[in-house]
Amino acid sequence: MYDLTSKVALVTGAASGIGLATARRFAAAGAAVILVDRNADGLAAAVESLGDGRHRGVTMDVTDEAAWAKLADEIDRDAGRLDILVNNAGFGVFRSIADTTLDHWRAIMAVNLDSVFLATKHLLPLLARSGNSAIVNMSSIRGIAAAANTGSYCAAKGAVRMFTKATALECAALGNGVRANSIHPGHIATPLSAGVHADPAIAARLLADIPVGRVGTPEEIADAILFLASDASKYMTGAELVVDGGSTAQ
Ligand code: NAI
Repeated sequence: MYDLTSKVALVTGAASGIGLATARRFAAAGAAVILVDRNADGLAAAVESLGDGRHRGVTMDVTDEAAWAKLADEIDRDAGRLDILVNNAGFGVFRSIADTTLDHWRAIMAVNLDSVFLATKHLLPLLARSGNSAIVNMSSIRGIAAAANTGSYCAAKGAVRMFTKATALECAALGNGVRANSIHPGHIATPLSAGVHADPAIAARLLADIPVGRVGTPEEIADAILFLASDASKYMTGAELVVDGGSTAQ
């Protein structure tokens, strides 16, 4: 059920953290993986770590529409198919509304939200041609439950959640065999969150908010993404999968 043999999967933000762990899970499940990231060196190391010739890295900014159009053409030409799209690239920082400039707001929207729209728009024809394909969009518990000083990030991740549901319904109406679901991690130990977890006072506050008493690992999120990408979840679409050690159950 979790087997991805003969499938082609694309993962954004795949040079680090959750994206890298996901690329590894997909490769181990048999998929040929296209790893997308703007960090060329990290990407090269990530592709090499997968250790076989079926996988490739694409250095690009996920907010660049022309780059998505070009990549869609390349995938069509080279692989001839796409079965799985994981829109994972993103970031956020703690910032009050007073300290948030319009440029910062737009940067957060661009990487977390615009990128999901652009990838979906340009890759949907390929995914639809597969006839049995899956989109997994990276939201966050902040796409469901807000927190202070994270306004732009909460807004972007909440929009990812709703865009995913709209995508799912549109694809279901078209009958094109494309499922779309969002994933909502809690506090996960990655390079993105390292600064936060390194501050003892903030780390203690975060831990107090996690019922199971520890932060999650990128691999624990990758396992859930593999579930959403595989036939194990074939009746799921437009759903939101929370993986947060119980944080939002409180
Ligand atoms: P990370 O910083 O370890 O990895 C993110 C990757 O995305 C990096 O390799 C970075 O180069 C790439 N990236 C960022 N902007 C890009 C752009 N414009 N174009 C191409 N690549 C770009 O971060 P992490 O923690 O693995 O986060 C992955 C996703 O998970 C993000 O969307 C984040 O918001 C989300 N998330 C993370 C949580 C956490 O606690 N770490 C919790 C909930 C959601």
